[in-house]
Parts: sequence; C-alpha cells; structure tokens
Amino acid sequence: MTYCSAPGKIILFGEHAVVYGEPAIAVAIDRRIHCDIRRSHDETTTINGLEFDPKKQTYLQCAMDTLGVREPLNIQTKSELLSGAGMGSSAALTISSLGCLLSLQGGFDLENAAKTGFEVEYQTQGGASPIDTSTSALGGEVMLSPTRVSGFCWTINKEDTTWNVHQSKTPKLKLVLGNTCVHSPTSKLVCKVKEAYNRSSMARDIIRDIGVVVKRGHEALMEEDLVEVGRLMDQNQSLLAHLGASHLKLDALIDAARPHSYGAKLTGVGGGGVMLALTDEPDEAAKAIEGAGGKAYILNSTTKGLAFE
Ligand code: PMV
Repeated sequence: MTYCSAPGKIILFGEHAVVYGEPAIAVAIDRRIHCDIRRSHDETTTINGLEFDPKKQTYLQCAMDTLGVREPLNIQTKSELLSGAGMGSSAALTISSLGCLLSLQGGFDLENAAKTGFEVEYQTQGGASPIDTSTSALGGEVMLSPTRVSGFCWTINKEDTTWNVHQSKTPKLKLVLGNTCVHSPTSKLVCKVKEAYNRSSMARDIIRDIGVVVKRGHEALMEEDLVEVGRLMDQNQSLLAHLGASHLKLDALIDAARPHSYGAKLTGVGGGGVMLALTDEPDEAAKAIEGAGGKAYILNSTTKGLAFE
C-alpha cells in the first residue's frame, strides 16, 4: 500500500506563453489531492469502491499505461480541489497517483514523477507545458524558463521546446481565486492560441512580451515587492486579453477585485474559468468577486509539494 498527496497550483505569470518556451511562474496552494493505491486481491481495478472506467479516469489510466502497470489495483482518491477550475486538479491527481505507483514499483524519485507527470498531461490533453505538474511535484514557487538561473532543479524537453524547472523562495502569498463558472476546456483555448501564434506576428509578439513581464515578475517576487508583482499581474492580464484569452465575466471579476488587491488577472487557461487576485484583504476581495457574480476561494501558497505522510 502507498499513500501520497500532492498540491494544486495557481499560475501567477506566463500561462499560454509557457507553451512556447517562454518563462512562467506558478505557486502551489494549500489544497491537495490525496491518493492511496493498493494491490487488489480481485481481478478488477476499483476507484473509490467502484469499477474503474478508463474513459472517465483518463489521467489515471494514462499514468498506469505510461509506467506499464497491468495488475489490478484498489485506488482511493480524496480531493480538496475543484476540478476544471484552474486549481491544477488534474496535475495534482497525476502527481499523487504517480507517487503511489512509482513507490509500488519500488522506484520513486521526484524528478521522474514530475517528468512522467508532464508526459501524462501532454498525452491526455493533447499538449501542455510542464508548469502544473512541476509545481505540484515540487511545491513552493516554481519557475520554468528557457535559461538556467538559481534554484535550478531539472530540464524538460518536448519536441523543440526546452523548459528549465526552478524552485524559488516565495514570500507567503494571500490569494483569492474567482470562478466565473464559465466552463473552458484547456485544450480548446490552447489550440486557439496556437493557431493565432502560427498565423500572426502580433500574437508572437504578445507571447514574447508576456515572457518579459514574467522575468520582471520573478525579480519582484525575489525582492518581495508585492506592489510591483501586482502591477505586473495587471500587465500580464492586459497582454492575455489581447491574445484573446480573457472573457467578459473574467474582466468583471478582475475589475471588482482590483480595488482590494495588489493585482488581478486570469489564471490558467482563461476564456472563462478563473481569475486570481493577490491581496492583503482576502475577505474584501472575495466579497467583491462574489458581488460581481463569481464564486470566490481564499487560498494560501504552500511550500509542501508531493508528500508521503
Ligand atoms: O488550465 P490550467 O489551469 O491547467 O492552465 C493551462 C495553462 C496553459 O499555459 C494555458 C497550458 C499549459 O499547459 O501550460
């Protein structure tokens, strides 16, 4: 039997641009997915007491296939994350299950779990960057960048893109997530941005500009200058809106949260989905988000990544 848990994440800077090798920064949040996997005495695999359906459990099935797991298992999962809400629930499920599966195989190591987790997300979503899975594995603040800087952990390559994964010391961040409740599948908007990137030099310029904002964001975080971090989050939002990744409801929640925040922007894929405010007044920001029609969640950053206790 193995038990493992892994945190969700929010992307502070650089979503979409990171798919093209630009830098991005995410932080792990204090909500997790817990996973317990045991070898089964029966012939079928079960999940939470029910028969395992590979069509529904696409991430878990892909994780088992990638590791060549064929034996029947009893899987238990418990989630503190909302799914499809930009909290990184698929990455947390993938990383926590890989922690269990690699341990059952007697060969756990964190780098392998993070790299395999990225492959699982990439296969299941038909394209992804390693930002979600790396953050869930490592915890804390994670930066992906084309160059190596201090805090370097490992490199991930896919096709002609290279991401260097770093872990940095982050100030403790108070965050409020605002859910528009407008469903926005990651793969759909990632494809739309990819079409724009291939077709338009303006889209490519925006992606590069986002990369510049992320680098400044990293410096501001290192200096614990939250005013500057917030200002750069607002800039990142404006670039994402020009890229076509925002949504009227996202804009409304962002506008409502800004008077109570250092900065606010969409987080994750956009096109609906969720926004994020960095704030010292989480209750006020949450109230403003709810007043504008969103569902608010107060979150804290955490340094705890994949864990076995
Ligand atoms: O949908 P989320 O929160 O996992 O975020 C997707 C972030 C993208 O940059 C758009 C895609 C990716 O895999 O990095």
